Amino acid sequence: MRAVIADDFNTEPRLAELPDPEPGPGEVLVRIEAAGVNPFDWKVVDGVMCGAVEHAFPLVLGSDGAGVVERTGPGVTGLAEGDRVFGQFMDVERGRGSYAEFALAPAEGKLASLPRQLPFDLAAALPTAGAAAHDFVAASGAADGHVLLVNGASGGVGQAAVQLAAARGAHVIATTDPATAAYLLELGAAEIVDFTEAPTVDQVREAHPDGVDAVVDLVSGPAQIDAVAELLRPGGVIISSNTAADVEALAARGLRGANLYADASPETLGSLAASVVDGELKVRIDFKAPLEKAPAALDRSRAGSARGKTVLTVREGTVDA
Ligand SMILES: NC(=O)c1ccc[n+]([C@@H]2O[C@H](COP(=O)([O-])OP(=O)(O)OC[C@H]3O[C@@H](n4cnc5c(N)ncnc54)[C@H](OP(=O)(O)O)[C@@H]3O)[C@@H](O)[C@H]2O)c1
Repeated sequence: MRAVIADDFNTEPRLAELPDPEPGPGEVLVRIEAAGVNPFDWKVVDGVMCGAVEHAFPLVLGSDGAGVVERTGPGVTGLAEGDRVFGQFMDVERGRGSYAEFALAPAEGKLASLPRQLPFDLAAALPTAGAAAHDFVAASGAADGHVLLVNGASGGVGQAAVQLAAARGAHVIATTDPATAAYLLELGAAEIVDFTEAPTVDQVREAHPDGVDAVVDLVSGPAQIDAVAELLRPGGVIISSNTAADVEALAARGLRGANLYADASPETLGSLAASVVDGELKVRIDFKAPLEKAPAALDRSRAGSARGKTVLTVREGTVDA
């Protein structure tokens, strides 16, 4: 099969020919139709998990994918050949990922059923960013009347977070450049902060001198997050996607903080898929390319300026089937 692999940490991803994988006990082999790109995919090649977990090389890149069950391994009862599924496929310890014509996954606990009305490309764009937005917004306590800043609202996670928080009744402040402002207002943002114009913290403080209730922070590193946390009212909460929050230091200041990892459980994926089908959650694909262009798509993600999701089409002509 064709797959996009890394031969080692800090090497250039490349298209390669690998043997088709065989599903073991409790596993399914999925014929991938579309794979979703996330910043984490290139961070893995950079070694973000080096030392914390073993990596098997060559490593097939990518986490998110959508496709059709091709074959089931021994003992699988919950899924059958021909089932449409989507979810996260990354397993660095076994060198597995979604940027490939076929990918293995456990039959239970990882994949969700993909409704007919949801095209493969939109489904492939959902798992990591959608689950992150789902979990981070829930942890922020977003509710009627709460003021929530989504820092990094213009990207994949941010666009979903704006919609999920607005649906809970929160007053959402969204950071973006002017070109994407109208779209974020359409998604439910109540206020826009143009982060290209002046520092976000200064603009939010001026508009909300009494502070905000919560921040979902998708951009700050440890060096920037303290200034963002200063925007919180006493007892406020900041959720970091980048492990930037010093939870103890925040507690000492009467604030709450959490460094969260998205849990793309089948339940969360199912609820996200239903929201997309119902038109409650919009997913914008701002860059689509064939599998062989994955190295360029990763470079593009690394360079920034994402204004939606990047999706790799694995099988020409079948993505919207
Ligand atoms: N913990 C988890 O489970 C988890 C899950 C998903 C994602 N993440 C992490 O969360 C981050 C966001 O993910 P994503 O998929 O949404 O990435 P993305 O699609 O690349 O979006 C990032 C967005 O942030 C914007 N941005 C960058 N610097 C900014 C700044 N200073 N102020 C305001 N906006 C800024 C970018 O615009 P410009 O490039 O134009 O600046 C871009 O629109 C990544 O670091 C990712 O690795 C973590």
